[in-house]
Amino acid sequence: MKRLEKIIVVGGERLQGTVRVSGAKNAVLPILAASILSSERTCIIEDVPMLGDIHVMIEILQRLGAHVSYKPRGVLEINTDNMSNCEIPAELSSMMRASVFTIGPLAAKFGYTQICQPGGCVLGPRPIDLHLDSLRALGAEVSLEENYIKVRANNLRGNVIRFRYPSVGATENVMMAACLADGVTFIENAAKEPGVVDLSIFLNETGAKIEGAGTGTIRIKGVKKLVGTRHKVIPDRIEAATYMVAATITEGAVEIENVIPEHLKTPITTLQRANVRIKKGKKNIRVERKGGLNPLKVTTAPYPGFPTDMQPFLTALLSMADGTSSVTETIFKQRFAYVPKLKKMGADIEVRGNSAIVKGVEKLHGADVAATDLRAGAALILAGLAAQGETTIDRVHHIDRGYERIEEKLRRLGARIHRT
Ligand code: EPZ
Repeated sequence: MKRLEKIIVVGGERLQGTVRVSGAKNAVLPILAASILSSERTCIIEDVPMLGDIHVMIEILQRLGAHVSYKPRGVLEINTDNMSNCEIPAELSSMMRASVFTIGPLAAKFGYTQICQPGGCVLGPRPIDLHLDSLRALGAEVSLEENYIKVRANNLRGNVIRFRYPSVGATENVMMAACLADGVTFIENAAKEPGVVDLSIFLNETGAKIEGAGTGTIRIKGVKKLVGTRHKVIPDRIEAATYMVAATITEGAVEIENVIPEHLKTPITTLQRANVRIKKGKKNIRVERKGGLNPLKVTTAPYPGFPTDMQPFLTALLSMADGTSSVTETIFKQRFAYVPKLKKMGADIEVRGNSAIVKGVEKLHGADVAATDLRAGAALILAGLAAQGETTIDRVHHIDRGYERIEEKLRRLGARIHRT
């Protein structure tokens, strides 16, 4: 019974050793949706982590008529030839925001789709106006019923789409829909996240013609057909960032394998400013902390800026820095729900508008706390690793949405952590 499981952490151990990062959740999810676009030949996706959100996306594909099979060592085989149904079941689309990624592919491939308003983390309002307005700009008719979204798209046509904000999901949705549109589409002010680039590499391997992913302007030339391919997803930079902070907060020394250092440039320079020693290899980084932690002033930003998904980890870390820090969140409206839980553990944090003012304290102490969302849950584990005594975290299903066996990986680094 997932919902009743708890994670118990006894703090005080310095983490040492090596940990391997899994494939990136936020690259796999759009790539699974993009498999809808290909006909003929099976898509084979490698290094897929076994996470809650991935299972939901697989179930959505299966309910749409795709054939998905799990192979050993994180390989997924997806065949979408016999897909027929175009409606995402409400109980699934309300479970996860990533279900919104299926709108573009379904509209482009079948000319119609229906989905209920997407769910996801409680990070504040999660509108999808950029997704829907972009599909309209490609010629789709989008209508909002009571809480359903209906999209009709008999033949999508290329257009110039300029985002008021570089939305990751909207960039990915438009990129997918434009692959099968007539003519050329330009996305301006596009998101540059590594997941966007990995999706474009996957789509080009299936026959799409996408240029410029990773820059602010992406060009997509529509083609008639896409066919299945084999693709290995990039490592999860946010999971890597989690272990970077785990090493730092416990004053340990950890080797993190299967990373692309380029994807972690800002997290690395930010932790180095806090006096953390980080050595970059080709596909690994070594993180070591000895002695004091400098306070920081950090503001989240779209990639390549400081990642919002790492913001909760940084606040937990800075709660024990030598001085006062500030962490400002510019991406989501409410991403400080975890702060009261850190305060229950002894942190001295005041949230003012979209900034957390963090006064460093000597030590945190264990407490009973609840995860409010995926990365907040991870931040509570990180705080528990450093706190004196025992911390109990419940609602761990949030954490399992984005981390593959987090307590096993941390235990192998010497953490005293287990799941009830
Ligand atoms: C993706 O969410 C990630 N999820 C998030 O990771 C990540 O935090 C986020 O990008 C930012 O990097 C996946 O990739 C599955 P956005 P997404 O569209 O696509 C507003 C995690 O922990 N917005 O860039 O939803 C929105 O409200 C998750 O793995 C609109 O206003 O992010 C938010 O304030 C959490 N209208 C901001 O843009 C829209 O149509 C960023 O959203 C779309 C978004």
